[in-house]
Amino acid sequence: MSDIRDIGWEERIEGHAFPMRLQKYLARAGVASRRGSESLITAGRVEVNGIVVTELGSKVDPLEDEVAVDGVVVVWGSSHVVLALNKPSGIITTMKDYRGRRCVADIMPCDEYPGLYPIGRLDKDTTGLLLFTTDGELGNGLLHPSHHVTKVYHATVTGIMTEAEAQQLREGILLEDGMTAPAEISVISKSRNRCVVELAIHEGRKHQVKRMCKAVGHPVEHLDRVSFGPIETGSLKQGVWRKLDDEETAALYRAAGLA
Ligand code: URA
Repeated sequence: MSDIRDIGWEERIEGHAFPMRLQKYLARAGVASRRGSESLITAGRVEVNGIVVTELGSKVDPLEDEVAVDGVVVVWGSSHVVLALNKPSGIITTMKDYRGRRCVADIMPCDEYPGLYPIGRLDKDTTGLLLFTTDGELGNGLLHPSHHVTKVYHATVTGIMTEAEAQQLREGILLEDGMTAPAEISVISKSRNRCVVELAIHEGRKHQVKRMCKAVGHPVEHLDRVSFGPIETGSLKQGVWRKLDDEETAALYRAAGLA
């Protein structure tokens, strides 16, 4: 690590990457978001030239210094990936669970793609599409409320939702944390005492779909996410992941407001 901590240059000028803060370097390299990178540093998981660095102000020169996370060397300038998982039920959306519960990291190729992290969360019992990326900027862009990225869910609910109840959800409904934004709602199948409701929402509040359906008298029995922005689960089997192709990846970047 250079002894250039106090030098203010942080940008690439005429092709040379000047020293930058370690957390910025990790975020730029796609290891994690800026905040996630800070946590990696303070947790002692980051080494610079073989020495563990826990100080957030530390600077590195991307062209000179070797940075490793959990012993895996970060490749500066390596291209980012986006992976899609059809999440099974019973798995929690975290990359590490200190209580030893099954988590998405048990399924995903974390060693192959250092810094991979889930874009948002699905509840433990929710199935369906969960995207992962190594690009902190993409993750933040897709989750930012201003980008209105649509998520489509199929909720199997108790009872038959009436048109009036669906209309309440379409217009927005008052939950403990405020009104929900307008949503697209349709009942797509019915049996004697339950139905499947398709909900297209662009907010991402905790347990939002379950709370919305419960608020109109229909507890969710099962929840499945079928799409996230331009990406659909399609024929991907539960418990299986795949890498998005260039076209899908480009569409996601556009949805996140990134060129
Ligand atoms: N809404 C929920 O209630 N749960 C999820 O897992 C996702 C959206």
